[in-house]
Amino acid sequence: MKDNTMQDLLSFSDWSPQSMQNLLALALDLKQYPEKYGKPLAGKSVVAIFEKPSLRTRVSFDIGVNKLGGHLVYVDSQGSPLKDREDPVDVGANLACWADAIVSRVYEHQTLVDLAKGANIPVINALCDLYHPCQALADYLGMHEKLGELKGKTMAYIGDGNNVTHSLLIVGALLGVNQTVITPKGFEISSKIAKHAAKLAYENGVDLTIANSIEELGQADILYTDTWLSMGDDTPLSEIKEKFAPFQVNERLMKKAGASYVMHCQPAHRDLEITGSLMDSEQSLLMLQAENRMHAQNAILASLIGGVTLA
Ligand code: CP
Ligand code: NVA
Repeated sequence: MKDNTMQDLLSFSDWSPQSMQNLLALALDLKQYPEKYGKPLAGKSVVAIFEKPSLRTRVSFDIGVNKLGGHLVYVDSQGSPLKDREDPVDVGANLACWADAIVSRVYEHQTLVDLAKGANIPVINALCDLYHPCQALADYLGMHEKLGELKGKTMAYIGDGNNVTHSLLIVGALLGVNQTVITPKGFEISSKIAKHAAKLAYENGVDLTIANSIEELGQADILYTDTWLSMGDDTPLSEIKEKFAPFQVNERLMKKAGASYVMHCQPAHRDLEITGSLMDSEQSLLMLQAENRMHAQNAILASLIGGVTLA
């Protein structure tokens, strides 16, 4: 069972603004000066156990762990959810017999909570139904690289209210980024997470606007969108396409918002939630986001199990 000095990274929801800033600074430093940190994961093993497909997360964790001197074992659980075979509490306890950390992508957030309960080692959320914290850290790293000081900048998220939206909101509020979230009616973010983000925003002097009409889009430095149908959502595209069409992120919306850059966590669907031409434009940060996944995750791993603090 969990020794409560072992920290998990399930959501960033209970982090302080200062710890969030420190982690972002570490990610940037590790990216710019990796040699300063040596091989903090030498002799360490990480298990990645995924219930859903992945390109960016899986590969960036594997290569990232390798660059830090550690070793990653991938366990495929895409055939059926972990809990169908064995209680995730027991899975966590078993993995902790050999590994130093668990990285997991699951359908239900509760599965991560159970893994973490059983495992006496840190558990890192690689995406669940509610959050995608590694993505948000990578994205604010990219935003910082492009725009400098994050405090007072504005990000507008447009599209389906989902796991990525939740993590962007929480991490953004902690880092002082003003946020606008515009989703079609019926596709809003979780009201519980919206309430928590509003509290964090209030405490940090951040403006938060949540709306259902694209007419509410004001000035923003960055427009962000994500797929209209997340993994595991079997709704036929034809059922939602018309409703989502006004929320497509395109050159016209970029102009309306006066935005400098566009972001999308990928996988992206060209000419659905974002135009292919905007994805390929000078304003696109999509490849920087992908690149930064590894640096953000390396900062998380190095601090959780490598004993690293900002040098
Ligand atoms: N953005 C992201 O998490 O991509 P994958 O689903 O490919 O890991
Ligand atoms: N919201 C998307 C993110 C993919 C990285 C999903 O959950 O499928």
